[in-house]
Amino acid sequence: MINRAIDRLKETRYLLVITGAGISAESGIPTFRGNDGLWQNYRAEELATPWAFKKDPEVVWKWYDWRRGIIGKAEPNNGHLAIKKLEEIIERFFLITQNVDGLHGRTGIKNMIEIHGNLWRVRCERDGKTSMLMDVPLKSIPPLCACGNILRPDVVWFGESMPTEETQKAYNVMSLCDTLMVVGTSGAVYPVASFPQTVKEKGGFVIEINLEPTPISSIADISLFGKSGDILPAIVEGITGQKMF
Ligand code: APR
Repeated sequence: MINRAIDRLKETRYLLVITGAGISAESGIPTFRGNDGLWQNYRAEELATPWAFKKDPEVVWKWYDWRRGIIGKAEPNNGHLAIKKLEEIIERFFLITQNVDGLHGRTGIKNMIEIHGNLWRVRCERDGKTSMLMDVPLKSIPPLCACGNILRPDVVWFGESMPTEETQKAYNVMSLCDTLMVVGTSGAVYPVASFPQTVKEKGGFVIEINLEPTPISSIADISLFGKSGDILPAIVEGITGQKMF
């Protein structure tokens, strides 16, 4: 199976990679829907919403603080590094990540969008300004904007629409790619969840990498089951003929 994926990638002209929480699991970051995704008996789906923030901004902010605490100590893993390598070796490349942890960016990858935002950034809903959290005075939980309004993480919550520019870019690259590789996502969240089907319908090829079968598995041409931190470097080595690590 992995050899079929390697052969396909060798002749790919435009690769689109989509990643989810699974790519960062080996960096020690809990996924959303696994049991380790729970925080103080809350599910992510109960906290990552505008309603939860309105009801109790402090508890939502503390959940992000907890996640930032874990992510701040984490490093990109072999899977992130292999994706960066794919950017270098495949003619045209784009990455759409649903992750807000910023780990892909830390590999130096260039052609990427963080379609659900970044939890190191904050936004004021009153004046629309965004800033990096480290540039904001942390005098209260949540901290305040210069205008006096409370700041929120600059991420997309359940029930919110995606940023228009990023979404347009995502649909654009999806229409251009000839191979789509979907890594470490349960495929539960739209619009990215619909991309494998659309790529198949336009004659493209879909490769999935996940620990276990997902709704994407029945659509994918190839599903590779295992850790992305093992499978992705093996794919890169198969393409280049050189050891990665
Ligand atoms: N290698 C490959 N896949 C893995 C690994 C690993 N080491 N560890 C976990 N996985 C897989 C799981 O099997 C699961 O299918 O990663 C997937 C993680 O799924 P979710 O926790 O549902 O995360 P994701 O699909 O990214 O969620 C999408 O939902 O909560 C929102 O905005 C949030 O971006 C997130 C979105």
